[in-house]
Amino acid sequence: MKTIEQHKSLKAYNTFGVECFCEYFTSVSTTEELRAALLNEDFSQRFILGGGSNLLLTKNLSGLCIHVDLKGIRIVEENDDLVIIEASAGENWHDFVLWTLDQGYGGLENLALIPGNIGTAPIQNIGAYGVELKNCFVNCTTLDTITATPHRFNLEEAVFGYRNSIFKTALKGKHVITAVQFRLTKKNHILKTDYGVIQEELGSKVSSPKNIAEAVIAIRQRKLPDPKKIGNSGSFFKNPVVTEIQFQNLLQEHPEMPHYRISDSEVKIPAGWIIDRLGYKGIKRGAAGVHEHQALVLVNHGNASGIEILTLAKEIQEKVLVNFKISLEIEVNIY
Ligand code: EPU
Repeated sequence: MKTIEQHKSLKAYNTFGVECFCEYFTSVSTTEELRAALLNEDFSQRFILGGGSNLLLTKNLSGLCIHVDLKGIRIVEENDDLVIIEASAGENWHDFVLWTLDQGYGGLENLALIPGNIGTAPIQNIGAYGVELKNCFVNCTTLDTITATPHRFNLEEAVFGYRNSIFKTALKGKHVITAVQFRLTKKNHILKTDYGVIQEELGSKVSSPKNIAEAVIAIRQRKLPDPKKIGNSGSFFKNPVVTEIQFQNLLQEHPEMPHYRISDSEVKIPAGWIIDRLGYKGIKRGAAGVHEHQALVLVNHGNASGIEILTLAKEIQEKVLVNFKISLEIEVNIY
């Protein structure tokens, strides 16, 4: 039987560094331990905690908090061109990306330095610089949170979208991801360097998975706060998608507005730019704030509570609605 701690602080377990307590806490390092924790009838409520990198805690948690700490990386199969790797849910995402690059594998280089763990990455289909997790995803293994029975989801069944998957929608809270398999290239890498900032950073260097990862790391280190120094959860909001009519109206007022066309009738607008325009970049409300180099990232400068950060988020949502007639959707999971 795994140790169960009482009234444990989760401050070290969420990248926002928010102080909240859980009633009971256990950390599981094997699937068997996870199964036993899920089936433990002493607790009526369970909370599954992964890397805590896409999470804003606004209250103490009742019942049992299960910290998923499953470790391991293995090659499932390979040929001369491709390799399928399985990583366990508790492996750190960035360490895994670096490991794949050290082996000479391509595919995850644009996703370097994203905080969090393997097991939570598919939930929001993490993405950066033109690549999303779904591009290399083969399948993930899960346990049903009620029955603890194992399941496997392939690419189609995971229903990935922009910062979205079935684990955030229809099956929210119903499965714990235990491992994820990725298809990576051993040669003829498919490199994505079309983002202007990547090209600038690469300069005259050849495009290779390692060089792209280095460029991504340098860009992210400049623009995004390191959660070990300033609590944060990456982009707090999703970039909104507006209709062509809305877009044309906005463009008249803001001709310089950056935008990405995603279909004939829809355009994505960077929420960071909107929030920046409204003068929020670098502002502070107590210890809650907006990052000084990227207005899409809310930060905890010290001892901000989850409620303080959420209150600031709501203030921003209201301002954006009034001034841009756009509803900003929160990307981070709020509890
Ligand atoms: N911008 C501003 N001011 C700001 C922030 C952005 O003017 O304070 C402008 C930039 O100059 C640029 C545009 O907005 O013209 C877009 O900014 P950026 O390239 O930084 O990307 P983003 O749309 O704000 C998204 C992802 C990031 C990802 C980057 C790069 C979402 C919600 N966020 O941000 O993902 O790293 O693109 O691909 O889609 C995350 O999800 O946690 C995350 C960091």
